[in-house]
Amino acid sequence: MAGKIKVAYVGCGAIAERLHIPDMLACADAEIVAFSDPMKAKAEQMRAQFAENARVYDSHKTMLKAGGIDAVVVSTPNIYHGPVAIDCANAKCHVLVEKPMATSIAEAKKMIEAAKKNKVQLMVNQCQRLFPAHKKAKEIMDSGIMGRVLHVTAMFGHEGPEHWSPSGKWFFQKKNARFGAMADLGVHKADLIRYLTGEEIVEINAFYETVEKKKTDVEDNFVSSLKFSNGAVGTLAASWTVKGAEANYTVLHCSNGTLQVCMQPGKPLVAYLHNPSCTIEFELPKTPSNYEGSWGLDVGNAFIGALLGRAKPYCSGEEGMRSLAVILAAEEAAKTGRTIKIKA
Ligand SMILES: NC(=O)c1ccc[n+]([C@@H]2O[C@H](COP(=O)([O-])OP(=O)(O)OC[C@H]3O[C@@H](n4cnc5c(N)ncnc54)[C@H](O)[C@@H]3O)[C@@H](O)[C@H]2O)c1
Repeated sequence: MAGKIKVAYVGCGAIAERLHIPDMLACADAEIVAFSDPMKAKAEQMRAQFAENARVYDSHKTMLKAGGIDAVVVSTPNIYHGPVAIDCANAKCHVLVEKPMATSIAEAKKMIEAAKKNKVQLMVNQCQRLFPAHKKAKEIMDSGIMGRVLHVTAMFGHEGPEHWSPSGKWFFQKKNARFGAMADLGVHKADLIRYLTGEEIVEINAFYETVEKKKTDVEDNFVSSLKFSNGAVGTLAASWTVKGAEANYTVLHCSNGTLQVCMQPGKPLVAYLHNPSCTIEFELPKTPSNYEGSWGLDVGNAFIGALLGRAKPYCSGEEGMRSLAVILAAEEAAKTGRTIKIKA
């Protein structure tokens, strides 16, 4: 690719406005050239706010047909992730698709195949991998200092998507979202604990319920118990009914100590080591809450850097699919009341 990478957006809602577009503007190797949204006024609003020379469309198909695009960020309601990403790959555009990457494994596989066939990259915005505390936690886990992971706790909860996206009614509709809190928030932590431990989740049982939200046919709460490929156990939970401070933490109990990630207010990362006995508190930028304007994750450089071969994709299509598989297995476990084995 000669010159700057020409980037377009499909879906101009809250995550495009608050994370993707501001982060892309900070990437010197990219140029925003188009916005598409069936509510064209939203695409026009993004142009006025961020990139006055960009083209605007009410259909991604028309946008792709017009050409001149190298890479697309797909941030639509969940059910469109697969079809839009496949259209973009078939138009020879690299793709960064929002989480959950798809609504079924069959669809995720088709996305991966379309990217391979067209020789473009497919990445999934499992952006918890980019939080400073999570990057540091990954470094510590990979160093081996914590020993073998034995027990994992992960939780992500907030007050619900109505407090996040003004146009986000779709989050509460199964026909548009496919899942509720389980995939909206649960998939972030399913992905993060796979990433941090380097272990796959191989068995799961779960419950999900709608305990408080009205006028919805998706779950607002989800809890699960897990077994990892190394025999470790854990719990993974997500909630749209957490009032006050967001719950967004992970604890890794290991053979040589415990790593607390965003567990205590004001302490993004704490390692308790057993041998030699010590406590290390890491000074890191605060993990932003979902509602804060800028997340400081540098998603634009992470995506474009991978396209330019400067870095590995922070979450490939295959990785995104494995994290989705955990959520789909959790759903099956909750529906059937059985423990579900997750195939590699
Ligand atoms: N990575 C994260 O931390 C994170 C956070 C929030 C949301 N998300 C994900 O981002 C996606 C979008 O969420 P949001 O909060 O921006 O929602 P939103 O409702 O604010 O925005 C969605 C936008 O997509 C548009 N849209 C609807 N149908 C479309 C279609 N067929 N083609 C193109 N655009 C279409 C809507 O008009 C709207 O502007 C979801 O998949 C969500 O799970 C990720």
